[in-house]
Amino acid sequence: MALPADGRGAIAGRYIAGVAKLKTLFVCRSCGAVQNRWMGKCPDCGTWDSLEESTQDPNAEKDPQAALVGAWAELAEPKGAEADNGTRARPMHEIGDDETNVERMGTGIHELDRVLGKSRGGVSESAGVVPGSAVLVGGEPGIGKSTLLLQAAASLARRGTRVLYVTSEESASQVRQRAVRLGSQSEKELFLLSDTNLARIVEQARKVMPRVLVIDSIQMIYRSDVPAAPGSITQLRRCASELVYLAKKSGIAVMLVGHVTKDGQLAGPRLLEHLVDTVISFEGERYHQHRVVRAVKNRFGTTLEIGLFEMTGDGLREIPDSAGVSPVSGTEPRIGSAVCPVMTGSRCVLLEIQALTVTGFLGAAKRKSSGLDSNRLAMLIAVLEQHAGLRLADRDIFASSVGGLKVVDPASDLALLLAVASAQVRKAIDPATCAIGEVGLGGEIRAASQIEARVLEAARLGFKRVLLAKGKGVAAPKGVKIELVQVKNVDQAIEQLG
Ligand code: TYD
Ligand code: MG
Repeated sequence: MALPADGRGAIAGRYIAGVAKLKTLFVCRSCGAVQNRWMGKCPDCGTWDSLEESTQDPNAEKDPQAALVGAWAELAEPKGAEADNGTRARPMHEIGDDETNVERMGTGIHELDRVLGKSRGGVSESAGVVPGSAVLVGGEPGIGKSTLLLQAAASLARRGTRVLYVTSEESASQVRQRAVRLGSQSEKELFLLSDTNLARIVEQARKVMPRVLVIDSIQMIYRSDVPAAPGSITQLRRCASELVYLAKKSGIAVMLVGHVTKDGQLAGPRLLEHLVDTVISFEGERYHQHRVVRAVKNRFGTTLEIGLFEMTGDGLREIPDSAGVSPVSGTEPRIGSAVCPVMTGSRCVLLEIQALTVTGFLGAAKRKSSGLDSNRLAMLIAVLEQHAGLRLADRDIFASSVGGLKVVDPASDLALLLAVASAQVRKAIDPATCAIGEVGLGGEIRAASQIEARVLEAARLGFKRVLLAKGKGVAAPKGVKIELVQVKNVDQAIEQLG
């Protein structure tokens, strides 16, 4: 029995749909929440000044999943099949292994494949792109996203996987120029399309039938039937969800490029994160040569792994496992520089940390850091003041990680502390010594995780001595010639400066 109120609601609804009046909404640029009126602060995520005006597409409700892709999907998967598999609840044991544990398409770029993850336990162990998955590659403009994806596309094509590379920002000949630079202009399985209209892109994809579809970048793609400008949140969300739907239905792996600004602003990656399976962030300082690929979210692997690259004149070059980022060992002693074996995922990277202290104004001293956490720097300066008796209050202090690599590992505390102390007392640390340890507020040195892996890597790169926290059972791994110097607190560590 229907209540009268329901009836009224239905009539009102039909009235609105009939008139198809565009309703103005406000969408949060950072979390994607929708509000009815403009507000200074998003009530859902608390970000200030992030609401952007947008209009609701009157057809969006009627056609939630793309008539565009729908017709094609029906060809690939006849109606009825879905009712059997997709919408019927099944017991866990009936669900096959093949849905996520499939043979992956290796890009041949190991640093990227490792970040994308590998399938385990299946027929074969393979790392790379999962067929039918959606990957978002985010990064600041100019960092090298197009270069990375073109290299990956060319490498996939070389291994016999058909790729359609859609560029929405450049012309086909511009991309060809880049391909010439990368030495991959003559790949037969690499198809190129310069277009921004989603319908035409899908049409071309249907003709070419690639196994991987690269969209560079998603911000420029639009649907002509959506009443919003390209790059707006409405367009972005609509186009991205359609492409993700296409990936799921057709088994084509879709790789989307999205720009982010320094603070993750701009409509884009943030908003798309929950739509896609994997979010990869491509980081680095534009004017440094090192680049890091990191998985921010990964439905098919861990988010611990990173891939390291170097931007060179002819594209991105992988930095293999065995290479240190800053080969400092063996060079002459330098004031204000210390090395720490930093763990990122399963790999260890020897990283040089530098510091500089100069006279500043008392009470207005600058503390700046690049690649390091500035709160951590401030804390370590306080520890040095309090527990090591260094007078730093009127010193400007600058610290950076060499090569522009971002350090988040707390085990780098000791190296940063030593770099600052070394810069202040103007005494160099022996270049064959590295330091591992977290520094506590009481000036104590705490043990770091994965000591053995770090010590091994340091020994392999020619380091002779490691400073680390005092602890039980600290010993060099068997057969490794390296001296382990145990220090209990900041004072003892600084004594080692010589
Ligand atoms: P690009 O991939 O276009 O960056 P994005 O797509 O993220 O905006 O390239 C970024 C920069 O890399 C560009 O300024 C030039 C430089 N570059 C090289 O140094 N070597 C190369 O081989 C290529 C292709 C680019
Ligand atoms: Mg680009």
